[in-house]
This record gives sequence, structure tokens and C-alpha cells, in this order.
Amino acid sequence: MGKAVVLHATGGPEALSWEDFEPGTPGPGEALVAHEAVGVNFIDIYQRTGLYPLPKLPAVLGLEGAGVVEAVGEGVTEVAVGDRVAYAGGPPGAYAEKRLIPAHRLVPLPAFLSFHDAASVMLRGMTARYLLKGCYPVGPESVILVHAASGGVGTLLTQWAHSLGATVIGTVGSEAKAVQARENGCDHVILYREEDFVAGVREFTRGRGVDAVYDSVGQATFLKSLDCLRPMGMMVSFGQSSGSVEPFSPGLLASKGSLFLTRPSLMEYTRKREDLLAHAEDLFGVLEQGAVKAKINQEYPLREVGLAHSDLESRRTSGCTVLQV
Ligand SMILES: NC(=O)c1ccc[n+]([C@@H]2O[C@H](COP(=O)([O-])OP(=O)(O)OC[C@H]3O[C@@H](n4cnc5c(N)ncnc54)[C@H](OP(=O)(O)O)[C@@H]3O)[C@@H](O)[C@H]2O)c1
Repeated sequence: MGKAVVLHATGGPEALSWEDFEPGTPGPGEALVAHEAVGVNFIDIYQRTGLYPLPKLPAVLGLEGAGVVEAVGEGVTEVAVGDRVAYAGGPPGAYAEKRLIPAHRLVPLPAFLSFHDAASVMLRGMTARYLLKGCYPVGPESVILVHAASGGVGTLLTQWAHSLGATVIGTVGSEAKAVQARENGCDHVILYREEDFVAGVREFTRGRGVDAVYDSVGQATFLKSLDCLRPMGMMVSFGQSSGSVEPFSPGLLASKGSLFLTRPSLMEYTRKREDLLAHAEDLFGVLEQGAVKAKINQEYPLREVGLAHSDLESRRTSGCTVLQV
């Protein structure tokens, strides 16, 4: 018998309880992973509160982890017992010492990458990869706006975009976060709780606007972000840390300059195994070169994941967060 953090009913961070947990033995196509480290992401908060409903409760949350394969079920070819592995994406179940997972979601870990770093960057780093290469092709000519540029995804996205030669404008919630956003490679930083970020972007781009906006903040920034784009620019709305975006008419995109809009998810971009491996390989490549660093600014014991949730949702965190098992 091991331990896990179990959610019995949706609610606040106090709804997460540390309990005995029996992970079971792997069925066909499954692997049993003994975690060394586990990631914590904003999507876990959406699932805890019920914004993203879970198929059933009680449930073990968590979509990201790294560890060692302890057993495999019938027909598993992707990994073997003893392999160092990591994963990001569904199904939930990472907030546990050990868990079962479909083996096709596991990625072998390269020797240079620690379990801690892997568990903190797999989900956010592969997200950064599809945002920069799948949603809009970012390169040396690109000028982009990244909201929450010192947050988890923001930190990896900004470093990676900078390494591709792009010009990055970042928004942040405090002076301390502005320092971090500059270290991440932002060319210009706007404190969006104090300044009008549309005016800041228009001034910095001399009226042109940006090629793409990466908006994970949602309700508080979505409409104004459309005003930051150049004609035919790409609005990438990939999260809602401030609340869900209100419904609007597609005519708005025409009136603001024939804009494009996408609302992507990592699960879709990595659904096929070859896409999952390609995303992971690219991420491992930039980490190994040092172009992107896993900036782990918060660590908590697994059993205290509720505290990690409250810190994340109260804007007290920056960079990545990891849970020690
Ligand atoms: N679609 C996908 O595939 C995908 C994948 C991964 C993550 N995401 C999304 O990306 C976003 C970032 O995820 P993350 O885990 O890396 O979190 P994070 O960015 O580290 O944390 C959220 C940050 O958002 C900013 N924020 C602005 N308004 C906020 C509010 N009212 N409440 C809370 N935070 C607010 C805060 O930064 P400031 O203080 O600087 O404002 C806060 O630190 C989330 O929305 C998540 O759902 C989407």
C-alpha cells in the first residue's frame, strides 16, 4: 500500500487529502510508474474546482510526473521495467507515490535530465513547443506578446522564443516578476496591473502590433489582446488563469483586422505517439543545449500539494513548480 492525494469532491485546496492508496497491477498496455517527482499545473486547479469536469470522483489529480517503470502489463513495447521515464497529459493520477498509466504516454528520459527537472517541464515545455511551432511559426522576424511571462509556461515559452531569435514582449504582475521576465529573454516588459498593455505594445512596435499573442490569462486580457495584433495576426488563447473568456461574435475578428484565433490543447498536439515523441525530443534538445532552463522556483512535498495549488492560484509563484515524492 502506498500513498496518494485524493480528491473526493470538487472544491478548494483543502479538498485534497493525503491517504492510503493501492495503485493496482498493470493491465494490458499499462505500466506501473514509481514516481521520483511530480509536476503541478494550473490545469490541476481547473480539475479540482470542477471547471474541467473529471469523469468520476474520487480521483487522483496530476498530469505530469517522472520516475522508474516498476512493472508492465501484457503487450507493452514502449518501455521496460527499470526505465527512467516521464510523461505529461492525461489521464490524471500523478499525485501518488506510484500510479498506473497507459505505456504509450511514457517518454524515455535522457541521461542528462534529472527526474526533478523532467517533472517540472514536461507539460509546460511541450506546450511551449507546440505554441511556437504548431500554432504560429515563430522565428527571427517574429514579434510576439506573452502574457504572464514569468509564470510556468511563460518562462519556458519566453526562453525558447528568445533562442529562436524572436522579439518578445512580456506582461507580468509585479516588479520582481519583471526582473525574471527580462532574465527569461523578454525584450520589453509591461506591468499589466499598472499599465495599459495595449498602449505599451503599440508604442514598442511603433504602431504595427505583434504577429502573435500567447494568452493564458483569459478573461482579464483576451479582448485587449486582440488590439495588440497586426492585421491577420494570430491570437493563441491557451488558458484562463483569470477566468473563462466570455462568448463573442466572430465578426469582432474581422473588425479588428481579419485576425486568426486558435484555442489549442497539449493533448491534441501530442495525441499520436510520434507527435508526443517529437515534442519531447525537441524539448530535451533545447534543455540539453541550455537554450531553455527549467527554472524551478517552488518545491513542496507531494502531500502538501494543496499549498502549491493556493500559491499558484494566488499569483504567488513564478517559473516552474515541482512536488517531491
Ligand atoms: N492549452 C494548453 O495546452 C495548456 C498547457 C499548459 C498550460 N496551459 C495554461 O497556461 C496557463 C499557465 O499555466 P502554468 O501552470 O504555467 O501557470 P502560471 O503561468 O505559472 O501561473 C499563472 C499566472 O497567471 C497570471 N495571472 C493573471 N491573472 C491571474 C489570476 N486572476 N489568477 C491567477 N493567476 C493569474 C499570474 O502571473 P502574473 O502575476 O505575472 O500576472 C500567475 O502567476 C494556465 O492558464 C494553464 O491552464 C494551457
